[in-house]
Amino acid sequence: MEIFFATSNDNKVREFGHALKDFDLKIKRLNVNVPETDDEDVEDVARKKARDSFEAAGVDSPVMVEDSGLYVKSLNGFPGSMSGFFIKKCGEEGLLKLMKNLDNRKAFFKTSIAIYFPKNGDVKTFSGKCRGKISRDKRGSGGFGYDPVFIPENHENTFAEDIETKKRISHRKKAVDELKDFINNEKS
Ligand code: IMP
Repeated sequence: MEIFFATSNDNKVREFGHALKDFDLKIKRLNVNVPETDDEDVEDVARKKARDSFEAAGVDSPVMVEDSGLYVKSLNGFPGSMSGFFIKKCGEEGLLKLMKNLDNRKAFFKTSIAIYFPKNGDVKTFSGKCRGKISRDKRGSGGFGYDPVFIPENHENTFAEDIETKKRISHRKKAVDELKDFINNEKS
């Protein structure tokens, strides 16, 4: 199967590459950038983005998008689907500042992949979550985005300090695993 991946984020492409290593799926990168909706769940954002990206791209193969967010419990899920906007304006340091006096550091990452299938106009979504907590300070230089301030559950290091762990257990890896299961089922 051939799928177009509409994204401007090189980090996502790299992590998809790792998660899809040795898997028979041809991904072609597509440079279209459509506006995102303000839904709180990244799955809803991704679902609409897939359809809009397909229409903007003018291709005839399925179009895939991916949307991710960091949901912090003591901030009622903020920044969530606004994670991109928040980090652009305030950085990971902004999140640490906002949480300076908060003891409940629980948070999770969620990734949703959405694929628009032109043959029937259907959109399928595949999601993954990774639970953990927000660190007290920035640590590590691997990964991207909020990785230096996110410590996955049952671990001591941030994703940015331990990129091998991120490759194994991340929200993105889990979403890609769901996608692989779907493709394997379609093949059989
Ligand atoms: P997007 O809207 O899916 O592009 O993601 C919003 C923002 O969340 C990105 O700009 C990154 O800063 C952050 N982000 C997405 N995925 C990850 C991740 O795996 N680790 C850390 N930050 C991430």
